[in-house]
Amino acid sequence: QVESVDSLLKSTGREGSETRIQGWIRTRRDSKAGLSFLAVHDGSCFDPIQVVVEANISNYETEVLRLTTGCAVDIVGTIKPSEGKGQSIELLASEVHVVGWVEDPDTYPMSPKRHTMEHLREHAHLRPRTNVSGAVARVRNCIAQAIHRFFHENGFLYVHTPIITASDCEGAGEMFRVSTLDLENLPRTDKGEIDYKRDFFGEETFLTVSGQLNVESYCLALSKVYTFGPTFRAENSNTTRHLAEFWMVEPEIAFADLADVADLSEKMLKYVFKAVLEERPDDMAFFAQRIDKEAISRLENIIDNDFARINYSDAIEILENCKEKFEFPVSWGIDLASEHERYLAEKHFKKPVIVMNYPKDIKAFYMRMNDDGKTVAAMDVLAPGIGEIIGGSQREERLDKLDQRMDEMDIPKEHLDWYRDLRRYGTVPHAGFGLGFDRIVSYVTGMGNIRDVIPFPRTPKNVTF
Ligand code: 4AD
Ligand code: MG
Repeated sequence: QVESVDSLLKSTGREGSETRIQGWIRTRRDSKAGLSFLAVHDGSCFDPIQVVVEANISNYETEVLRLTTGCAVDIVGTIKPSEGKGQSIELLASEVHVVGWVEDPDTYPMSPKRHTMEHLREHAHLRPRTNVSGAVARVRNCIAQAIHRFFHENGFLYVHTPIITASDCEGAGEMFRVSTLDLENLPRTDKGEIDYKRDFFGEETFLTVSGQLNVESYCLALSKVYTFGPTFRAENSNTTRHLAEFWMVEPEIAFADLADVADLSEKMLKYVFKAVLEERPDDMAFFAQRIDKEAISRLENIIDNDFARINYSDAIEILENCKEKFEFPVSWGIDLASEHERYLAEKHFKKPVIVMNYPKDIKAFYMRMNDDGKTVAAMDVLAPGIGEIIGGSQREERLDKLDQRMDEMDIPKEHLDWYRDLRRYGTVPHAGFGLGFDRIVSYVTGMGNIRDVIPFPRTPKNVTF
């Protein structure tokens, strides 16, 4: 019976009994007294288990003394109280079976020393073995599970929306092309036939930038829904918060307005942060110690306090009247730059702030027009240290107003007739938002670069793995 390191370390009162573990060597230390200490991890928790191996084991000289970082092992041993600091128990090995050796330990890229993030990115396939990437993977999983649980507990239905689509939800022209409509230059096979493998059945298609339009259709039948999937943006931005492929969580509620989704966003974030603190104290302690000393206190503060809420126009006033020197000038009508967002959250409010009612000209066609005719019912949740983590809005449920916006913005109606149908047949006020999943992982862990919180980052010129 194989046991995880996590369950072994959490168990109590089992000293003297036997167990078996499987995992990888993090370090080996040999003492002069003729015994070795192995730190073995299996990814189930932050800490490795210490395994003591005495020289009387049959393969001690031939194998145990040759173990290096990364070797895979299967160990049977007796649980003992630990004399070392930090852990209460250790294993005294009776059998050490080597499952996989590390060929050429001298050049193994994940040697136990501390590596730069750049080095880890270059070895994205090996980095989950490190402390830091392992902790990120566990916290990322915890957040994903908490999000599903939150929506499930609140009566939301999980809907799968398509990845390949013809519609540009955000209208920002940031779609990666899957297939072309260029009839003269259609990709052809050697035999001269149209190569549908490269052309998606002769339709012009792209990778989705958001599942929102599709999820709206399910919202207007099932009331409370969300989608959670990969989304793509063909923006050539080399920043610490942009990916070309990222994951987005998009809830949508019927019979709801902007204030309702602002409330939902705050409730969801608090729920998720609480879950992380409760379920991953080991990994969060590591982030607080090694990556960002406020990693834990920041989440605790958020859970205990209300988010700030402010209108865009008032946010502009704050920015215009503050002493901060910005690279991009501030005036009513601008899209907030990252430096503005961060000023508001970090320096002015010192907590997350929900900015609402943005100028219509900087927002997408589907957002509901406010009575002032100048602003739309949009909201962004800005967090200290990272800026925008959520973007959402109340949707334009009135067909005439929606059509007017589409005309003004030159959005071809023929592709979105199905979306317009939703306003023709039993339309209701509805609203939703999109949470950048990778941004929230970055925020929670304090990892400064979004490339270090997604397993295989897709950024300009980075598709090897
Ligand atoms: O603000 P965005 O573009 O909103 C939408 O796509 C809406 N359709 C969502 C909705 O209302 N259902 O994106 C939502 C969030 C942003 O707040 C940000 O956190 C994240 O997605 N995001 C990115 N994350 C990583 N890399 C990128 N290139 C991102 N672009 C947006
Ligand atoms: Mg946005």
